[in-house]
Amino acid sequence: MAVHWVATDFGGLEVLDLAEVDVAAPGEGEVTIEVGAVGMNPADYKRFAAGSDRSILPMPIGFEVAGVITAVGPNTRIASGDGTIGDEVLAYRVSGGYASSLTVPARDVFAKPANLSFAEAANLLLAGATASEMAQVTGVAAGDTVLVHGASGAVGVSVIQQAKLLGARVIGTASEKNFSVLERFGAEPVAYGDGLLQRVRHLAPHGVDAALDTVGTDEAVRVSLALVDDLGRIVTIAAAKQATEHGFRAIGGSMPASAAYRNSIRSHLIQLTADGALVVPVARTFPLTEAIAALELLKSEHTGGKLALIP
Ligand SMILES: NC(=O)c1ccc[n+]([C@@H]2O[C@H](COP(=O)([O-])OP(=O)(O)OC[C@H]3O[C@@H](n4cnc5c(N)ncnc54)[C@H](OP(=O)(O)O)[C@@H]3O)[C@@H](O)[C@H]2O)c1
Repeated sequence: MAVHWVATDFGGLEVLDLAEVDVAAPGEGEVTIEVGAVGMNPADYKRFAAGSDRSILPMPIGFEVAGVITAVGPNTRIASGDGTIGDEVLAYRVSGGYASSLTVPARDVFAKPANLSFAEAANLLLAGATASEMAQVTGVAAGDTVLVHGASGAVGVSVIQQAKLLGARVIGTASEKNFSVLERFGAEPVAYGDGLLQRVRHLAPHGVDAALDTVGTDEAVRVSLALVDDLGRIVTIAAAKQATEHGFRAIGGSMPASAAYRNSIRSHLIQLTADGALVVPVARTFPLTEAIAALELLKSEHTGGKLALIP
């Protein structure tokens, strides 16, 4: 018997319920994981915020976990090869990660680098693959000056690190209290709010080559458009409507091309973390039973790092 969080309806956090569940024995191509940590992302609560198809209720929530393999289906290998009982792994993209144990497709399970905690590993892939795709679709390359909106957030911190690895100069927007987070990863911080455009122009008098937006505010969209002439070098993950309106790109994990790219980049991201070239700052952990308090903090949009649930 395991426990897992489900959304019993569409709506706010009041629809969540912690339920007991039998964990299915793994069939061919599946493994069972005893969860060491659950990674948390805004998509977790956005997924059940609204909807009309009640046939998908109760809806298990959560897209990524790290833990230990407790059972392996017949003729089954995990994505990184082999995979036996007792192995420490991370898994993304899964369904129903807010759980103490779950059975998942082995193709989404990878060996966990020993230098990562469960909380770090559980939080690597959703934000990391999103950040990687943002840099990929905007062609971030050595010598570029890149503006990242929301650079202190989970995706933002990963974008900074990956853009720096590609050889770019990164200017990032954040609250002043988070400037040190950006500086730790080699980005130049700038406060969002009135005067943002002038502040970025002052820092980059020769111009900005690409704008990567993780916040989707009107200000972020307006400043991106004012600084970057080539619409192919602007991307957002949070302002799809404005992207369509102005002709720049919005990406999302449910788009087939994005999903394919993000799946393809998982092993590379895991290798970067194993090498110490990419880190996942974890701001705080909560017991799995306190998921609602953790989600309230996540919804505040100022977590200053990733959150994890510990069963
Ligand atoms: N489309 C996709 O594929 C995809 C994938 C992942 C995430 N997302 C979405 O992307 C967004 C960010 O995700 P995340 O996991 O990085 O969230 P997060 O860790 O909560 O980060 C939120 C960020 O927003 C910043 N922020 C808050 N209010 C702001 C404002 N008024 N102006 C500018 N920045 C502001 C915060 O900066 P300070 O705390 O420094 O103020 C923080 O850096 C969420 O909406 C999420 O749903 C989309």
